[in-house]
Amino acid sequence: MKWMMILTAILIQDDHDSSSVKALLPDAESIQKRDYVLSKDQQEKVKLAAGSELPPAKVIYHSAEAQLQYPEEGKYKTRTLVIKADGIKGPIRLAVSIIPQEHMVIAVRVLEHKEGVDLNESAFLEQFAGLVYTTDSLWRSRNDLVDRERRAAKPGNDDDKLLDLLMVNKLLMGKASELFSSAGSRIRANDADAVKDLKELQQGYEDLAEKSKAALFLDDAKRKKFANLAIETKERFKAVSELTQAAKFSEAQDKFAEIGRKGCGACHGSFQGTFRSKREELGLGNGYFAINFELKASTDLDQKLQEAVALSVRRAVMLLELAPD
Ligand code: HEC
Repeated sequence: MKWMMILTAILIQDDHDSSSVKALLPDAESIQKRDYVLSKDQQEKVKLAAGSELPPAKVIYHSAEAQLQYPEEGKYKTRTLVIKADGIKGPIRLAVSIIPQEHMVIAVRVLEHKEGVDLNESAFLEQFAGLVYTTDSLWRSRNDLVDRERRAAKPGNDDDKLLDLLMVNKLLMGKASELFSSAGSRIRANDADAVKDLKELQQGYEDLAEKSKAALFLDDAKRKKFANLAIETKERFKAVSELTQAAKFSEAQDKFAEIGRKGCGACHGSFQGTFRSKREELGLGNGYFAINFELKASTDLDQKLQEAVALSVRRAVMLLELAPD
């Protein structure tokens, strides 16, 4: 009788766990339950970087193979872990999946919570899908990011100005893609409110051109090219904005379509990789899982709740990264 009970308990636990893998990766194959024991050093490392209590030594997770659309269509080895976060109304259980080889989060899903809203429908959770991190930033304390943000906000010397540029550029790009698609659909709907998005974009690229003087890691010609591309992009948004204001929506639409190719595309081809590596080199790579850095807060959820979820996801990623092959 006693054995029966233990067996049932294990089965329920098992069932639940592999269903959590299926919740994230519906077509996952060869799902295996695994565990490993963190060394004292690893426990300390997690505690320091995550800024939380010492994690339990034993980590239980699932490995599985899954057919995925990104980073490229194909079959990937994945790891999934269930972790708790402190919700506002009680604990939240989250499943987090990563592709360790790519240092990429595949998805995050809430399994249980008492918040009274559909957390899985929130844009906040969707952002984790496809988020690529560097292990350097993953293992840094969040204070390192705060330190860099503080220096960037009040740039005293060339190094700080560079941090400012990299930060401003990154934040602008995150916002640009959102504003860009919002402006696009408004113009297509003959909605003059597109002007609001376009003005914000103009301002953003103008500031970027100004701040790009700090890009001393580029030679003079490249730095000039970058600034010119930023100004050109600003001018293109301005032209579209004027057409929109004059209710010339079909002309605005044509001009707008060019921006993606000639403005965004041209600059990315020449500079995206360089800026990203510079950012990573200076300890500003993705991996902090911080709101207003890699993540945007959603207006539909409590800020504290989002902080807590982000922190737990980060801890889960750490534990999954430490798992032996
Ligand atoms: C003047 C140059 C320039 C222009 C113009 C430009 N970008 Fe970027 N963009 C960059 C750089 C540099 C990066 C790499 C940033 C990094 O990784 O730090 C980037 C990265 C991005 C990213 C990836 C963000 C991330 O977190 O990895 C998106 C999305 C993006 N840009 C959107 C746009 C859109 C949309 C436009 C056009 C409206 C645009 N960009 C125009 C320079 C530019």
